[in-house]
Amino acid sequence: MIVLGIESSCDETSAAVVKDGNTLLSVVVNSSMDLHTQYGGVVPEIAARSHIECITAVVDQALGEADCSWDAIDAIAVTYGAGLGGSLLIGVLAARTLAIVHEKPLYAINHVEAHVYANFITQVGPNPLLADYTLPETQPAFPMLALIVSGGHSQLVLFRNHFDYTLLGQTGDDAIGEAFDKVAKVIGLPYPGGPSVGKKALEGNAFALALPKAKMNTPSPALLALRAANLSSSDPEAKKPLPSYDFSFSGLKTAVLRAAQAMIGVDHSFPSKDIPERLSEPQKADIAASFQRVAVETVVDKTLAAYAEFAPRSVVIAGGVAASPELRRQLSDQLPLPIAYTDMRLCTDNGAMVAVLGCFHMKYDRPAADPYSLDIAPNLSM
Ligand code: KG4
Ligand code: ZN
Repeated sequence: MIVLGIESSCDETSAAVVKDGNTLLSVVVNSSMDLHTQYGGVVPEIAARSHIECITAVVDQALGEADCSWDAIDAIAVTYGAGLGGSLLIGVLAARTLAIVHEKPLYAINHVEAHVYANFITQVGPNPLLADYTLPETQPAFPMLALIVSGGHSQLVLFRNHFDYTLLGQTGDDAIGEAFDKVAKVIGLPYPGGPSVGKKALEGNAFALALPKAKMNTPSPALLALRAANLSSSDPEAKKPLPSYDFSFSGLKTAVLRAAQAMIGVDHSFPSKDIPERLSEPQKADIAASFQRVAVETVVDKTLAAYAEFAPRSVVIAGGVAASPELRRQLSDQLPLPIAYTDMRLCTDNGAMVAVLGCFHMKYDRPAADPYSLDIAPNLSM
């Protein structure tokens, strides 16, 4: 089973070919990030135009590097949500056209679910460009706890099996990646903020600032239902207060802004755009390190609590922030179970994760999409 995956939900145009849901044959990623850097974030119109310009070439290159003809492709999988409308539209229209022209089944893929499936790639094909990928040796076992941390999402999800999962908790405001990006802007570091804050943090003191960790106490309805199904009301465990797995990052982000203003001796009315030039490099490093520690601890604390409650057989991390060395370090140090991380290049947006999930759609006989009518779903959730 060989699936072509197409991803265009944000600023990366990507295509990849995956065999049997575990073997990566090629992955091509064309990022328009450089075009957005001067604006400090992704400009949707620029991203969409860039997708139009390169999507055909990216697909051709992915097929070429995988040494695959169209005859060898069994299906096409494409991200149809969540993401930026204009960006999603280009990938979906390209995939629909290719599915019609080449008479292939088309699978509509949820971007956030796909991030999790990057962890199911365990080997690469003969393509020499993939020779240095570091991958887990085996696919994660179910039940699997997935911490999804990206620019648009922060979620903890318990998977009982493929396509059978419960959303344990999620962010009520900013996603963790978004918080990294906004903090980077406040201290004058380039977009995307995750890698630039992580790098600056290496020079700073992670305990220099006392920053707040949000406490979310009310479990989500889905989590309450899962607990009710797992525990009988006579069970003493059922009476113990159990945590919520929701996150919040907006308070932390505001606390960073206030701390930066205090460091340079101005009040909260001082414009954030003028802060970077007044901060010294050591001050920026201390802010980056302290913010990163607290942001990562926030998601690690919840992951440890969910691990304790649900005793999953595997834990995976997914999404752009899963590339954070600090997140990997804190999790590996504290989780009582060895965790196999995927290659950093498969954490940020890519077509490989889409193709892997497409393979599972095919394997599990999930309904294919109609290539004449598949629409985008910018606000799709898990
Ligand atoms: O998954 P992704 O590529 O796109 C979305 O679906 O949102 O995630 C992008 C996010 C950005 O906020 C970026 O700052 C963050 O992932 N990110 C990182 C790292 N690389 C990307 N955050 C922390 N450490 C990294 N190395
Ligand atoms: Zn993503």
